[in-house]
Amino acid sequence: MSATLDPERITALLAARTSPEVRLRVLAECESTNSLLLEAPPLEPGVIEVLACERQTAGRGRRGRSWLSWGEHSLTFSVRWQFARGEASPMGLSLAVGVALARALESLGAQGVGLKWPNDVLLRGADGWRKLAGVLIELSSGSQGHAAVIGVGVNLSLPDDAPADVPAAALAQAFKRPPDRNVVLAALIAELGVMLPAFGRQGFAPLRAEWQAHHAYADCPVVVAGDLGVLREGRCLGVAEDGALLIEPAHGHAERILSGDVSLRPA
Ligand code: BTN
Repeated sequence: MSATLDPERITALLAARTSPEVRLRVLAECESTNSLLLEAPPLEPGVIEVLACERQTAGRGRRGRSWLSWGEHSLTFSVRWQFARGEASPMGLSLAVGVALARALESLGAQGVGLKWPNDVLLRGADGWRKLAGVLIELSSGSQGHAAVIGVGVNLSLPDDAPADVPAAALAQAFKRPPDRNVVLAALIAELGVMLPAFGRQGFAPLRAEWQAHHAYADCPVVVAGDLGVLREGRCLGVAEDGALLIEPAHGHAERILSGDVSLRPA
């Protein structure tokens, strides 16, 4: 899995797939691929811009957290996409991204891939679900419509010196012979390239059943926490067609949650 990212190889792998025009750059080092793409000049619709980086020095995660990655043990990249004016609202985009990433990993032969609302990709192991990949989506809107920068960090393998308290999984655990990094990145870009134009036309609703089929916490007791503490506790029903999380409390009807972090409720 430790091959250096090679733009020519990735481009050749993508040529065999149906996808929009891909503009790909690979950097040896940067602070954050999301930050760089957010500052880039406007992009025309129909082009998927990809910036991958071998070593991020200030990777950013959701809710202001930082994202740790380990050079060749990781994939860190961002994709920028300009939705056309009048296309679907980006609500639900994070779930659609999860479906695209799961499709890509499964197309490579990975089994036990799960999704956690709003946008974590998990892997099932002997001790339960652990986080395999994280997604940070940052949106801007202008006269052309919404633009999305979709940052993805995937753990390919865990280095020997990875902190013991990081509850991470790695893609290598899902394979006898893991594919190399270029193959994994090409598969992820290809599936995002299929999903993004379709999402623009139809939104998340057509992908909901596929998300539910991958839902790691389906019917489990969960806690949803926000910045100020616990927001809801209840049974996790999954997601609505617009991407809201549905939680059924012990008494009463299912409630819709629009932001927060979900974790399994300790037994
Ligand atoms: C999360 O789970 O908190 C989201 C992590 C997203 C990390 C990726 S790595 C590539 C891109 N650049 C960043 O700074 N963050 C995203």
